[in-house]
Amino acid sequence: MSSSMPLSTKIAHVTAIEAGAEKALVKPDAHLDNALSSTAKHGMPPIQVSALQGQFLAIQARLIGAKTVLELGALGGYSTICLAKTGAKVTSIEIDPKHRDVASENLRVAGIEPDIILGDARSVLPELVREGRVFDMVFIDADWGQHADYFDWAVKLTRRNGCIFIDNVVQELITCHGGSVGEGTLIERVGAATNVTATLVPKITGKEGVVDNAFIDGFLLATVN
Ligand SMILES: C[S@@+](CC[C@H](N)C(=O)[O-])C[C@H]1O[C@@H](n2cnc3c(N)ncnc32)[C@H](O)[C@@H]1O
Repeated sequence: MSSSMPLSTKIAHVTAIEAGAEKALVKPDAHLDNALSSTAKHGMPPIQVSALQGQFLAIQARLIGAKTVLELGALGGYSTICLAKTGAKVTSIEIDPKHRDVASENLRVAGIEPDIILGDARSVLPELVREGRVFDMVFIDADWGQHADYFDWAVKLTRRNGCIFIDNVVQELITCHGGSVGEGTLIERVGAATNVTATLVPKITGKEGVVDNAFIDGFLLATVN
């Protein structure tokens, strides 16, 4: 029966299930609500992780007992708050001074002392490696087109059995590599790495309304062996 169901109907189901799951599984959080409204109030794009995804990240951090997390891309601090509320110390890299300021304010409202490095991840990551910094978890959610290089730096910055989460991997492969997973892509780079175990989790959401009222994407999760 489901195979004959039109794609648009399936997507409508996904959208409704996602909305229902968010309502049932995500507890109200005034600090996260504040981060969302403050991000909108400052005219910043609504490109933070979803509530369910933020909760996924927090669960992931708890599962590995993360005490330290490195985040690429803070925006208004939504995902930073999700991660910091697990008890982990989150260090973020953010290129946009306005985003840094708004995220800092939102973190303070949540009772979290901000640790946001203002700069381009492409130059900050090598600096962190030179300083000998090591994190339990690295969450990459900055600019598309850089994932393969960010992954290499993240491996250097992650402790053994720590994890690396890279968001928007499927979108990056579609928009920057024509849907290929070949030479020069993140997938090829990760596959060639001898010291990581990784998986790709494709996903579909009805929330963003980008492609036929559905947004197709996926993330990569890796552990460092
Ligand atoms: C998708 S948003 C981050 C959303 C945030 N992680 C959340 O879920 O709440 C991407 C952020 O990365 C920042 N960014 C883009 N390119 C960057 C770069 N090269 N280095 C550091 N930050 C960058 C943008 O300014 C933006 O704030």
